[in-house]
Amino acid sequence: MKIAIIGTGNLGSSIAKGLIKNKSFTSLYLSDKNTAAVQAFYKEDYVTITSDNAEAVKKSDVVIFALQPRHIEAVMESVAKCIKKHHVIMSVAAGFEISKIESLIGADKNIIRVMPNTAISIGKSMTCLAANDKGEEKIELAKKIFNQLGATMVIPEEQIQAATVICASGIAFWMRLIRATTQGAIQLGFEAEEAHELAVQTCFGSASLLLESGKHPEQEIDRVTTPSGCTIEGLNAMEHQGLSSALIQGIVASFEKINHLKNS
Ligand SMILES: NC(=O)c1ccc[n+]([C@@H]2O[C@H](COP(=O)([O-])OP(=O)(O)OC[C@H]3O[C@@H](n4cnc5c(N)ncnc54)[C@H](OP(=O)(O)O)[C@@H]3O)[C@@H](O)[C@H]2O)c1
Repeated sequence: MKIAIIGTGNLGSSIAKGLIKNKSFTSLYLSDKNTAAVQAFYKEDYVTITSDNAEAVKKSDVVIFALQPRHIEAVMESVAKCIKKHHVIMSVAAGFEISKIESLIGADKNIIRVMPNTAISIGKSMTCLAANDKGEEKIELAKKIFNQLGATMVIPEEQIQAATVICASGIAFWMRLIRATTQGAIQLGFEAEEAHELAVQTCFGSASLLLESGKHPEQEIDRVTTPSGCTIEGLNAMEHQGLSSALIQGIVASFEKINHLKNS
């Protein structure tokens, strides 16, 4: 697989790191205005670092545009004539819709929108994928690439905004829950570092339990809530303060904001 990444900032270089780790390409072009962030990849086999976006596109079959929304239109326009029917064009730019990409490079091209989160830097991203009609033929290829960097889910493009809230903003929501647990643990007498480790490992264990058992969260809650015990006492106190409601309201507020930004 001949892959190019156009824009090697935070996300582009994380994707590059994952691809290099998994050795999942026959050639990898890393193209950026300023190649300083990816100098370390110079010595990797079959990796070419360049500032020539058009060259990167011409020499590749899969092109991942990892650019800021304010840059992507101009860059895509500048390489549009190099994009042929065999190319698979992927874009991570938030809010940059498939119809817009089609207007720049043609609806007859394979186009896939990709919405990862920052955990992609450690190969643990939940990445959502949405394709245009032509791109649906290549969705398995996109899954193959991004499954190496975490997990993937194929969704309709209309759900990309919602996925951004749950998965990309979701990282911040979970971090805040972990921080609150840490604050509680310190109040119960643990040192800050101990409190942090207890909170993070318990969060990790909870997610792993669900992933590995395939169970519903409430089944795991039932296993640790003795009738009249301390866990149900704590859980119900949290719910009286609106824990679930606060989370749901936050998610909905975030979704309303992202839709407002899109339409303004
Ligand atoms: N970070 C995330 O967790 C995340 C999650 C989901 C989606 N996204 C989306 O991913 C995209 C990239 O985010 P990021 O955080 O990786 O941004 P970033 O760090 O700013 O990376 C973008 C890179 O593109 C380079 N660039 C700008 N113009 C270029 C050009 N003409 N040719 C080649 N390279 C060019 C930039 O160089 P300069 O810095 O010199 O301008 C920068 O190195 C955004 O659209 C964002 O919405 C990010």
